[in-house]
Parts: sequence; C-alpha cells; structure tokens
Amino acid sequence: MAPKVFLTGATGYIGGDGLYAISNAHPDWELSALVRSKEKAANLKAKYPEIRVVFGDLDSSDIIEEEVKNADIVFHFADCDHVAAAKAISKGAQHHTPERPLWLIHTSGTGILTVEDQRARTYGIERPKEYNDWEGVAELIDLPEDAFHRNVDEIIIGIGRRDPFSTRCAIVCPPTIYGPGRGACNTKSIQAYLLSAAVIKRGKGFLVGKGENVWHQVHVQDLSNVYLALGEAAAEGGGKATWNEEGYYFAENGSFRKVAEEAYAQKLISSPAVDSLDDKQTTEILSAGLYAWGSNSRGHSLRARKLFGWEPKQPKLIDLIPEIVSLEAKGLGL
Ligand SMILES: NC(=O)c1ccc[n+]([C@@H]2O[C@H](COP(=O)([O-])OP(=O)(O)OC[C@H]3O[C@@H](n4cnc5c(N)ncnc54)[C@H](OP(=O)(O)O)[C@@H]3O)[C@@H](O)[C@H]2O)c1
Repeated sequence: MAPKVFLTGATGYIGGDGLYAISNAHPDWELSALVRSKEKAANLKAKYPEIRVVFGDLDSSDIIEEEVKNADIVFHFADCDHVAAAKAISKGAQHHTPERPLWLIHTSGTGILTVEDQRARTYGIERPKEYNDWEGVAELIDLPEDAFHRNVDEIIIGIGRRDPFSTRCAIVCPPTIYGPGRGACNTKSIQAYLLSAAVIKRGKGFLVGKGENVWHQVHVQDLSNVYLALGEAAAEGGGKATWNEEGYYFAENGSFRKVAEEAYAQKLISSPAVDSLDDKQTTEILSAGLYAWGSNSRGHSLRARKLFGWEPKQPKLIDLIPEIVSLEAKGLGL
C-alpha cells in the first residue's frame, strides 16, 4: 500500500524541491502538506492537484499532532529552529507503535557546526575542524547544546530514543544550498544570493576579516536525492538507511568562495578587488552576516554516499555564480 506522507515547508525552497523529487518518483504516494496561506495552497494545488492541503502553521500543534499520527512518513522541511512544531511532531509520534512505526525525516542545518566561531566570536579565520556523518556520527548526535539548531535536533533525537521501535528518525543536515529549486513557490536560497546582492549594492566585493573561513555547499537538486533515498528506505521498512542514533546525514559537494570577480565580469561593479570588513561593517550589511559569510561549517557527507550510492551530479556553486549574480542584479532592477 502506498505510504501516507505528511510534509511541512512544501512551499519553501528545500521542501518545494524535495516534494518535486518525491512526487515525480512516486506519484502513487498519498501526499499532504501543511500550508499557511491560501495563495500558496493554490500554487501548490496547481502543480500537485492530488496533494491534500492541511491549513495551519507551525504553531498549530493539534493539527500537526493529528497529521503525524495518521502519517507513515513525515518530512519536516519547514524550520529547523521551531521548537513548538518539533514538540507537536513528538506528540504525534507517540501514537505510533512497532507494528506501525513513524518514519520521521527532519531538516537541520550545518550552522550547527559553527559553534566554535559563535563561542569565540571569531569570523573570517579558517578552523581546521571537519566533521563527518560516518565514523563521526556519534559526535553529531551529541553536539553541544549552545550550537545553532541543537535545541530542535535534541527534540528529534529524543523522539527516536524514547521509543526506537515506534519512531525511526533521520536528520538531514544541509550546508549552504544553492541552485534553482523546482518547487511551486520559493525557488531561491539565501547565503550566496544575499552575498551577491550585497556586493552589487555596495559596488565592491568584500571578505569578512581575512576571508579564510570555509563552508560546504550542496545543490538543492542533489540534496533532494538524499531526502528521496530516505523516503524510499522508509517505505521499504527501513531499507539501506540507518535511523535514530546513526541517522544523521550531511549532503555536501565540497567548499566554495568568489562572487566579486563575476560581478565585475558582468560590469555590475567597477573592480574585482575586495575589501576586508570588520565585524561591525559586516553586521551593518546583514545582521546575520558574520554567521552567514564569516564562520566555518565543514561536514563531510559519507553516510548517503556509502548507504545509497548518492553522488552530487549538479554543477558546483562556483559554476552557478554567474547565474546567481545576474539573478540578484535583475532583482535589484539592474
Ligand atoms: N537554504 C539553505 O541554505 C538552508 C541550509 C540549511 C538549513 N536550512 C534550514 O532549512 C529550513 C528551510 O529552509 P528553506 O531555505 O527551505 O526556507 P524557505 O524557502 O523560507 O521555506 C520555509 C518553508 O517553511 C514554511 N514555514 C516557515 N515558518 C512557518 C510557520 N511558522 N508556519 C508554517 N509554515 C512555515 C514556509 O511557508 P511559507 O511559504 O508560507 O513561508 C516554507 O514553506 C530553515 O529552517 C533553514 O534555516 C536552510
């Protein structure tokens, strides 16, 4: 029988692309999605006439609990910091049994790996620490409580620990995501796009401090293949995936740098040179700028590669910088 699949964040960038991949591969799956606006529900229905729209938001705890109770698989794409939604999912999970387990696929973010920079307030320096989700998985399940997104990760991990036979959890932890989404509503990401817009607006490229920090990257369409592989494993009763204590998945395709050169090549700024900005100057451009552009987040994706044979196939961020710069320039009316 086709699984009942409940999604949050289906109108967003990650969830929109995830839904595209899932519904294309499995048109028979019974899909429902939490949506908070009529306009976006109409967009979603236009693309997926069969989907059941559940009106509500992430604070609609009773609605989320009920949907999770009735679902076989839950993809929680919406907000990796929303405590009330995670708690409602946890309550819904309690209705499941070993005979009818819940397969819960949660979205976190590798902002969680920036904890050393956040603690030391150091930005623009390179930190050598690299995490991985294979032999390093125990560390990821037990990251420090002051790390970004950790409070919600803890709730999700707690669901699996509470009753590992009734709920099988996987956490997908993406780094910087880029590339065109194939969803019904938002199809654009954040970090590299905001950086491109900021460089064009100020007329010159910049680095945070020395600009030696490193983030990993993944194309949204490659990321969706990790969600799809997990969904398919869930539908098979677990499949090749690992769950709960070993259910933490990075999705990464190396690291990235460079925007100003492309803005210069497109004649959007007058020089390819970059300024080194201090913390205050960076925060004036974007309140989360130090985090987004000045911290380190390095997590190697081994689990999806080893278990599912997952390989990123889409272009790297560096190859899409021209596209992103010109998209942001158009958005700025240039
Ligand atoms: N993009 C990245 O590079 C990246 C990387 C790692 C982790 N993440 C994390 O992944 C999560 C999703 O990111 P995204 O890029 O897909 O964001 P997005 O495009 O803004 O999508 C967020 C989705 O969640 C829904 N949502 C948010 N708050 C809601 C609420 N209170 N009630 C109901 N629905 C709500 C949005 O609904 P509406 O359409 O109605 O707004 C939308 O469908 C975020 O927590 C983000 O921090 C993102």
